[in-house]
Amino acid sequence: MKPISPEPLFRIFAKELVAQEVSTERYIKIPDEILEAYRWLPRPTPLMRAYRLEEYLRTPAKIYYKWEGVNPAGSHKPNTALAQAYYNMREGIQRLVTETGAGQWGSALAMACAYFGLKLRVYMVAASYKQKPGRRVMIETWGGECVSSPSNKTRFGRSLLEKNPDDPGSLGIAISEALEDTLEHTDTHYSLGSVLNHVLMHQTVIGQEVKKQLELIGVEPDVMVGNIGGGSNYGGFCLPFVAAKIQGKVDTDFVACESSAVPHTTKGKYTYDFGDTAGMTPLLKMYTLGKDYKNPPIHAGGLRYHGMAPIISYLINKGYMRSVSYGQNEVFDAGRIFAQTEGIIPAPESAHEIRFVIDEALKCRRTGDKKVIVFNNSGHGLLDLSAYEAFLNKKLENWEPSAIEYPSYAG
Ligand SMILES: Cc1ncc(COP(=O)(O)O)c(C=O)c1O
Repeated sequence: MKPISPEPLFRIFAKELVAQEVSTERYIKIPDEILEAYRWLPRPTPLMRAYRLEEYLRTPAKIYYKWEGVNPAGSHKPNTALAQAYYNMREGIQRLVTETGAGQWGSALAMACAYFGLKLRVYMVAASYKQKPGRRVMIETWGGECVSSPSNKTRFGRSLLEKNPDDPGSLGIAISEALEDTLEHTDTHYSLGSVLNHVLMHQTVIGQEVKKQLELIGVEPDVMVGNIGGGSNYGGFCLPFVAAKIQGKVDTDFVACESSAVPHTTKGKYTYDFGDTAGMTPLLKMYTLGKDYKNPPIHAGGLRYHGMAPIISYLINKGYMRSVSYGQNEVFDAGRIFAQTEGIIPAPESAHEIRFVIDEALKCRRTGDKKVIVFNNSGHGLLDLSAYEAFLNKKLENWEPSAIEYPSYAG
């Protein structure tokens, strides 16, 4: 319960990443090697106008989306994966370990490790490991190793498997395993795909591009929407716009969308909690459902995390941003509408903000309001087709927690 100094983190993360984590600089320059990797991805990604969705909804609202699914990994995750792999490679680290939920992050980091020549082991949440073999194969094809978590590779994993050989796992458990693995191997660093300040900062390449793209067409956003799992894609998208709201220059409506099965910010408590299940990380001040929250097996694997980025938590707590939650069926229905109008089958995570966008645009139809709604389409759902199949066959269950045990580590 006292502030951590950066030094203990050097064993886990590249020094430059720790420096970024605690930096108070407004901007940190992107090294040329990362800019080159971004061009290879490719970046900039397009900002699209959803004309056909607008037409379908008969709304006077103007809907734009930033399309992050165009790269080979299919989501926003390579923006920080490439940066993290680069800084570790430059410090002579040979191997990274990480966790992954649905596999988007693990596959993005596998691609980045292939690019910068690093070895990788990914602890993949057991439920997704079984449900989504496609992502595991992507990780392996890019040269990474993928193990189901909880695994027999760590003491923590073995202790859980002894109690329940069919433990479905969670992101919190996979993070604990990845941390234990890091501490056991001297050539290894840990890499996290969301939540932390440096991860959100790498993702601000999204929002910086959106800012330029909107300036080019002379458009100001009224509403900026995204989904929040750990907060990285939405943070990256909206943070470059948030300062103007804090300074009272604009009144943009920042809306973060989450799953009502994992309602971290809509029902969570704003307190200190661990980022992982074993309780190995420093405590983070954030909205949390408690590190032992039993995540239900919803299909938006990337939204199944008990906590939330401290930066996003702070903005919500101070009222600069609001959050809303949705059940699976209404989310997948929004994904279906988007696919049938705009052609893109969105990731289940991204379909959360599309639900909000559709409802907001319909509200504009009733009021005649010509709002400019901009959202971050964080990835495609082409490896989530079993979830769409379950939706189309009316086999998706909505799920909400009946009781939440809130942590109180802050005393
Ligand atoms: C496509 C996609 N969108 C969103 C998320 C949510 O994570 P975050 O809040 O860190 O962007 C994930 C996480 O895996 C994802 O794969």
